[in-house]
Amino acid sequence: MPMRQILVTSALPYANGQIHIGHLVEYIQTDIWVRFQRMRGHEVHYVGADDTHGTPIMLRAEKEGITPKELIANVWKEHKRDFDDFLVSFDNYYSTDSAENKILSEEIYIKLRDAGLIEKRAIEQAYDPVKEMFLPDRFIKGECPKCGAKDQYGDSCEKCGATYAPTDLRNPFSVVSGATPIRKVSDHYFFKLSDPRCENFLREWTQVKTPLQAEARNKMKEWVGEPGESQLGDWDISRDAPYFGFEIPDAPGKYFYVWLDAPIGYYASFLNLCQQKGLDFHEWTKPDTTTEQYHFIGKDILYFHTLFWPATLHFSGYRTPTNVFAHGFLTVDGEKMSKSRGTFITAHSVIECGLNPEWLRYYFAAKLNASMEDLDLNLQDFTARV
Ligand code: MSP
Ligand code: ZN
Repeated sequence: MPMRQILVTSALPYANGQIHIGHLVEYIQTDIWVRFQRMRGHEVHYVGADDTHGTPIMLRAEKEGITPKELIANVWKEHKRDFDDFLVSFDNYYSTDSAENKILSEEIYIKLRDAGLIEKRAIEQAYDPVKEMFLPDRFIKGECPKCGAKDQYGDSCEKCGATYAPTDLRNPFSVVSGATPIRKVSDHYFFKLSDPRCENFLREWTQVKTPLQAEARNKMKEWVGEPGESQLGDWDISRDAPYFGFEIPDAPGKYFYVWLDAPIGYYASFLNLCQQKGLDFHEWTKPDTTTEQYHFIGKDILYFHTLFWPATLHFSGYRTPTNVFAHGFLTVDGEKMSKSRGTFITAHSVIECGLNPEWLRYYFAAKLNASMEDLDLNLQDFTARV
């Protein structure tokens, strides 16, 4: 069998929290696959990075009285320690806040713009008049329009389960300053996914060209539809200052939305590795390359990887992923991990308890499969198996 050349990634964890055992499902799954391909004698490069940009990271740094750059440097060290502890064999672990990522993000944006796929449009959004910033949905709270419960987020009520729009909240307030949000208009930049070129490309890529998991392919079919019936909306790729991220080259005061530069961060980490190892980045990433590229992700971020990311790559002159592998979510005792129930288990706490990391690796390996089903950890089962 000829030697294959394979680039592999795991999703880039946000730099505003610790690595927990849910994350580890993914890094361990990827690592096992990577080690298997290396043992078969293939050339494998496994890259990762911290996902460092966006509003939550900016606000958390402010709260801690440090700069975002200081925050992400601290978190990077913790994440790296945890991945090393769990024997995740990254060839490069980098950051999306890097010179390589800035250059690649700008280059890709300019190519999309020159292909006529970027459009500027004014939109109205919630704005915090005290903090003088636009508010993402999760930074607005208020009273449930149905049962009146206080302190609820803008999408659903934790008390009665009602779902609604952020504008339905009664007495809404900004989580950042407590002020009542106002509506404010500003210009945003959109990636025109509704353009027939994108629609046709994505229909072909998701339904014919790529051997996606059946569940993933069917999900994407709902989005791309039959010709003329696509549900693809244009994708808002800009955010207004203040924002921790990369400024858009031809739009001062506007920043790339974190989900634009995050997947490009895969390439930035790989480019950095290419420079260390003398690999030819262009040969690996050009459209007609013979190399392979796989992304391991959780099911919650599927459409970023099977719609936005392939379209971003294709229309900026790069190859597209060979495949995307999505796994389900880890639950503990059958429920979502929760701090209050004491089932939010960080990677580091497992090590601090003196448990052998190989036990968890074995447990996940034994339970994982190729589907997007959730998997459960309970201590009895864990003990029995190990
Ligand atoms: N920063 C984004 C990914 C950007 S990729 C260009 C993100 N970060 S995350 O920290 O929230 O999640 C990182 C990965 O861990 C994702 O693939 C996510 O699905 C996975 N998981 C997070 N919690 C998980 C579980 N409880 N169980 C299994 N995987 C989980 O999303
Ligand atoms: Zn309610």
